[in-house]
Amino acid sequence: MNDNLHQLRCFGCGARIAGADAQPDFRCAQCGDLFEVDYPGWLQRRGPDRPNPGALKWLWRERRMSSEALDQSGVWRFRELLPILNSFGNAVTLREGNTPLYHLPRAAKALGIDQLYAKHQGMNPTASFKDTGMTSALSVARERGFEWVACASTGNTSAAMAAYAARAGLRSLVLIPEGKIAWGKLSQAMDYGAVTCQLKTDFDGCLKVLTEIVRTSPIYLLNSVNPYRLEGQKTPAFEIAEAFDWNVPDHIIVPGGNLGNSSALGKGFREMHELGLVARMPRISVVQAEGANPLVRSFAASNGASIEPLEANTRATAIRIGNPASWRKAARVINDTHGWCIDVTEAEIAIAKAELGSEGLGCEPASAVTLAGLKKLRAKTLIAPSDVVVLVLTGHTLKDADYTIDFHRGTFLSEEEAAGHEKEIAALRRNAVVVDATPDAVLAAMEDARA
Ligand code: F0G
Repeated sequence: MNDNLHQLRCFGCGARIAGADAQPDFRCAQCGDLFEVDYPGWLQRRGPDRPNPGALKWLWRERRMSSEALDQSGVWRFRELLPILNSFGNAVTLREGNTPLYHLPRAAKALGIDQLYAKHQGMNPTASFKDTGMTSALSVARERGFEWVACASTGNTSAAMAAYAARAGLRSLVLIPEGKIAWGKLSQAMDYGAVTCQLKTDFDGCLKVLTEIVRTSPIYLLNSVNPYRLEGQKTPAFEIAEAFDWNVPDHIIVPGGNLGNSSALGKGFREMHELGLVARMPRISVVQAEGANPLVRSFAASNGASIEPLEANTRATAIRIGNPASWRKAARVINDTHGWCIDVTEAEIAIAKAELGSEGLGCEPASAVTLAGLKKLRAKTLIAPSDVVVLVLTGHTLKDADYTIDFHRGTFLSEEEAAGHEKEIAALRRNAVVVDATPDAVLAAMEDARA
């Protein structure tokens, strides 16, 4: 049976092509913009290919009891809404998705809002949200018979790609900016057997080199310019809606780097809305680091109509990106849902990360921009106390342990960066102290911590 119902539609000029006809760099031959996966059959109201919302909700819930690998995946459990493979039997899965939605009562109380949640995408097999998009796009690579897959990465994409390629028996090539990715992520790419090249450039430079390589060599590009990545990455939107019994929250807050994730979540909510699975769209806001904020600047200058690439700098290395590929898609999501696009400082990120840690969750710095951003939006009273808010935490705290340890040791922020935040930082810091190997010394350390 052919499960495949999709076409690719250019986000810029609207040109439609068959999936197999995409250029290796996934740019439109007419206008150079990116493609989006489209399912024309869904538009025909009474057509045989239009999904039935009631039946799907029931089926997806039933699959949670199934012992089939595909049903146990939080991506392929929703496969009716991502019919991108000729056969779902070609799917490569590590049982990604089905990540927890945690209540954040302490942060909610501090912010004066009733309901605050964290959708923790760091609880995926390679510990970041990238797994949801990698299972979908890498499955396409396998189905189309590629031997090699490749990506440029700030670390998480490469970790995910290397793992899924290894599962599928494919070879993988990783290009990363030298010295600018967290060790946890680099170690994953090595462990999963990728050919890992550290280039003396930034993420944007790595992507440029890789784009040239795929134009001449038969290598399948797995960056989020690949529209099949976004198909998997839209499924957390389905999980969020399902968790709220198909009543969507008021507000979703996402970090912004290359801007694939915000684009994908927006697509997921939009498709659910169009198909009648949910009655409305949530507001979707994107938060960037102050030193890597091209989309924030774009909104300030032109409401997201054009973008000026910049040289990015932030210690939230995952989002150290100055020329985001999916900016146009993300800008549409923000505009369509009346979301906001804001940035936060290095100190605000570090503090928010420690606050999430102190609630027992933890995440990587790039994920903590969501809480830092929420604090800003709340301070401006752009969020009402009754709003239901979901933060998307994109990566696990162990991805970047150096960052966490430096913060708690007090060696992370310069005096200038910490200025105005000294009290908050002091209340959050928990350094590991060296004490004598005696009960008295340990008890004294506990006493000190209480003071
Ligand atoms: N959070 C984490 C932990 C990430 O790794 C990334 C992106 C983002 C947020 C931003 O998501 O790019 O979809 O806007 N990491 C990419 C990588 C670029 O190579 O791992 P985005």
